[in-house]
Order: sequence, then C-alpha cells, then structure tokens
Amino acid sequence: MTPALTIATTILFFSLFSSSSSSSACNKHDEKALLAFKSSFHYNTLTSWSKSTDCCSSWDHVGCDSDTGRVTSLRFSNDYENPRPVSLNGSIPATIGDLSSLESLTFSRVDGLRGRIPSQLAKIDKLKHLVIYLTRVSGTVPPFLSKLTALTQLSLAGNRLSGAIPPSLGSLVHLTDMVLSGNRLTGSIPASLFRKLANLTTLDLSRNRLTGPIPRSLAGLSSIAFVFFHGNRLTGDASFLFGKSRPVSQLNLAGNELAFDFSRVEFPLSMGYMDVSNNKIYGSIPAQITELTRLTYIDVSYNKLCGKIPSGGNFALFSADSYAHNKCLCGEPLQPCK
Ligand SMILES: *[C@@H]1O[C@H](CO)[C@@H](O)[C@H](O)[C@H]1NC(C)=O
Ligand SMILES: *[C@@H]1O[C@H](CO)[C@@H](O)[C@H](O)[C@H]1NC(C)=O
Repeated sequence: MTPALTIATTILFFSLFSSSSSSSACNKHDEKALLAFKSSFHYNTLTSWSKSTDCCSSWDHVGCDSDTGRVTSLRFSNDYENPRPVSLNGSIPATIGDLSSLESLTFSRVDGLRGRIPSQLAKIDKLKHLVIYLTRVSGTVPPFLSKLTALTQLSLAGNRLSGAIPPSLGSLVHLTDMVLSGNRLTGSIPASLFRKLANLTTLDLSRNRLTGPIPRSLAGLSSIAFVFFHGNRLTGDASFLFGKSRPVSQLNLAGNELAFDFSRVEFPLSMGYMDVSNNKIYGSIPAQITELTRLTYIDVSYNKLCGKIPSGGNFALFSADSYAHNKCLCGEPLQPCK
C-alpha cells in the first residue's frame, strides 16, 4: 500500500471504530481544554492528542465518562508497569482548571514537570484523587487545595515543595490518604490538622524538615492504619499514637527527636511494622509487645531504652540490630542481663 492509502485506511478504521461504539464522543469544552494543556508544554509526547480523533477513545492518558463524554481522569505516569511513557516539559497550566469534570489527576515520575501548583486547580471541585509524585514541582503546598472538598487522596510526595503545611487541609473531611513525604516542608504540623479527618487511613509526612510536636488531634482518628513521620525534626511525646485497640498496622517515627517513656505504651494489636529508631525514647520495652501476632519488623535502635528485652511471641524473629545503641537494653538477642 502507498503511504497515502495507509493513512486513508487508518482514518476509515478509526471513524468506523468510533461510530460503532455506543459511548459519547469527547465533550468539546474538554477537548479544547486538553489541547490548550498540550500546547502549554513546549516539549511533550502527547502525539495522540489530535483534533482529528476522539479524545475519549483515542487519546493516551485520558479517561472519560462513557455516558457524557466528559473527561474524568488524566494520568501521566512513568511508573514501571506503565506501557505509555510520557514527557511533559513545563509547568501545570492554568487551563487545567477548565476540565471541570475531572475526578482523578495523576502526574507520576514526570521529570520535566516544574513550577508551582496553579490556583486554577481549585476550580475542579469534583476532584477526588490528586497525585503529583516524583516531579520537580516547587512552591508551597497551596492553601487553596482546601477548596477541593471531594478529595479522598492527596499525594504530593517526592517533589520540591517548601514552606509550612497549611492548616486549611484539615477541612478536607473525606481524605483517606494524606501523603506529603519527601519534600522540603518546614515549620510545625498544624495542631488542628487532624481534627476533622475522620476517615484518614494513611498519613505520610516523612522525609521533610518538620519541627515541633506531633499534634494530639491525631489520637482521635479511629481509622488511621499507616503513620509515617520518619526523617523530620519532630520533638516531644508520641505515646498517644499507641493504644491497644487502635488500628495502626505500620508506624515509622525513625530519625526524629521524640522523647517519651516507652514503658507506659500499649501497642496496637494490629501492629505489623514499627520503626522508632534514632529518637530519644526512654524507659523499657513493655512485655505486652509479645502479644502482637502480626509484628514482623521492629526497630528501637539508637534510643535511650533500658531493661530486659521481652521474650516470646514473634520476638525470636528479631536480631540484635533491632535493639542496638540503647542505654542499657539486655537479654536475648543482646548480652544477658546482669
Ligand atoms: C526541558 O526542555 C528544555 C528546553 O528544550 C531542556 O533544556 C531540558 O533539558 C528539558 N528538561 C526535561 C527534564 O525534559
Ligand atoms: C467515611 O467512610 C465511610 C465508609 O466508607 C463513609 O460512609 C463516610 O461517608 C465517610 N465519611 C466522610 C466524611 O467522608
């Protein structure tokens, strides 16, 4: 076939394909917004985004509601399993705010993405999932994100965000995941942040430069399962994070300056992973910890703990590294107690 014929056949194939499909064609306003989005990047790999094809059925990274033809998801991801690698070189354009039916927006491992998170994003009030992960996006975590009242997942990990965590994020009552790890966030965690986040299950503020205490409002959350504060400069008491009936299954507080009496802590029975290493935790390890049948990892090294390491339960699994560099811990797998 001649090249011209091949193209003609391809066009015929696509028009047959889209007319035989029962789903609605791409909404014109959304198509316009996507084309504006594309042209804002001086370099991009959005070659499938062409006016001659339907954005819902033929454009990579775009997902639509099949009844209305409205664009509901945009997913740009260079995750290992993703078959469609993407390059976007520039910042998230203001026109993103015109995609008013968007429910899910993901940029993952997009190296060329930089600049600030645009305020027009706050117009997308149906947005449930916002993921900006491993990009060069900078500026602050914008307070206007609190206008995205439908958000369940806010994940801004591994960017170049700086400044303080805005207290306004505490009004996102539907959040199940708040992930702000691996940025350059400073200041203390707003005391009121967790007061209304009744459905929060994952909280990851690790690997930032946060200071001050962990707010006690976190103790009131009955659904919290994954709690990561490691690699900050947090101080004070964190014993309120524990409690026998709390659903916490993974807790990482490593590499802070937390100081509290471990002897008085009651461990959640659901705990599977606990790293509290490199803090200033004192007292002894309570024997109740041997009741934790799901515990597969523990690290209490580099603290100021003392006394006999409990034996029984899963405790035979753990090596001396888990207990190294404390004040005077003793017993298996360390030296016998005197
Ligand atoms: C973005 O584009 C500029 C200019 O073309 C180029 O110098 C730079 O390397 C690109 N960066 C990325 C991460 O693609
Ligand atoms: C919390 O989750 C429950 C169960 O999924 C749901 O019924 C409830 O509406 C949620 N609450 C909020 C504030 O999102």
